[in-house]
Amino acid sequence: MKAHTSINRGANQVAPALLDWYDAHHRELPWRTSPRALREGVQPDPYSVWLSEVMLQQTTVEAVKAYFTRFVEQWPDVKELAAADTADVMKAWAGLGYYSRARNLKACAEEVAEKYGGVFPDSEEGLRALPGIGPYTAAIAAIAFNRPAAVVDGNIERVISRLYAIATPLPAAKPEIKARVAQILPHDRPGDFAQAMMDLGATICSPKRPKCMLCPVNESCTALSQGDPEFYPVKAAKKEKPLRQGAAFVAVRDDGAILLRTRPNSGLLGGMSEPPTTGWTSRQDGDTTVAGAPFPANWRPAGAVRHVFTHFELALSVWRADGDAFPTPAGAWWSSPDEIPGEALPTVMKKAIEAAIPGATRNRLRLKGSK
Ligand code: ADE
Repeated sequence: MKAHTSINRGANQVAPALLDWYDAHHRELPWRTSPRALREGVQPDPYSVWLSEVMLQQTTVEAVKAYFTRFVEQWPDVKELAAADTADVMKAWAGLGYYSRARNLKACAEEVAEKYGGVFPDSEEGLRALPGIGPYTAAIAAIAFNRPAAVVDGNIERVISRLYAIATPLPAAKPEIKARVAQILPHDRPGDFAQAMMDLGATICSPKRPKCMLCPVNESCTALSQGDPEFYPVKAAKKEKPLRQGAAFVAVRDDGAILLRTRPNSGLLGGMSEPPTTGWTSRQDGDTTVAGAPFPANWRPAGAVRHVFTHFELALSVWRADGDAFPTPAGAWWSSPDEIPGEALPTVMKKAIEAAIPGATRNRLRLKGSK
């Protein structure tokens, strides 16, 4: 094996090679201003950048595309989003997961509209002071405002840990990775550089079987020179997720309407809609039997669903009752077959309803890429 020094072109070579590659091979994404448009003087739209970064924080590019497009059609700028009905925002977010993001999104839009007249602050410090803006602050500063901020996400962690053969396991390696990004980022095109690394990680420097032959920075890659790029990033062993249990109750009226209610604003799936369920949490099981039903009825078993959350897995027993003489508990409503697909139902609740009434949540024209 050659010594690293003779193989590596050095830190200052990475950015130009990566940017050349990005100019030719970048992905076309609905929120992205292309490098050519930027060169022609087009300014990125901070609202689009912010919205996409919030959505992309925990969700894949493919899943985000349709949601992003629908959001900007419905609320074309931050003032319109600030004035939106929160329930409509939750409905538009349904299926994207991590629902606190939707509540923070609305709060952030309100602050930008009220405090800044609808204009986003253009520095990392200004952005960080907004409600709910977290780890993606640097990405917004770099992509929307061309600030030389060190952007790190999952793809970038992989690219950098391979380039520099960082053996410290994640998440402990995060500061080291950020320092490496800060060291190599080009101050003339920090936004394109961040997106170039994201695209490289998504298309070439993949977790399994990276396409190193096609990589624009393969000559600078220490992991490749060592012969086993897949060894990086090193990750701390994952804890096994506990399995929690509960029950969901799908009451179906003769006209096909089902009973829904809104979950409390705080906590898991906060502010989202659900058929009545028992009180499971990430630490505690709920009742799986009819004893947990919202009212007595001819409840029959309608299957079971599983859903994986960040800290636990949930197994829900699903019960169904049919009839026309159900009470309507306080705060609940009957959602007609036409309305069900547009309700603010998280994926786990859609699964529960589907177990009881196959197809019920899917009648609306499905947008490609939505979860
Ligand atoms: N992941 C997070 N932000 C992204 C972006 N702007 N482009 C592509 N992937 C991303």
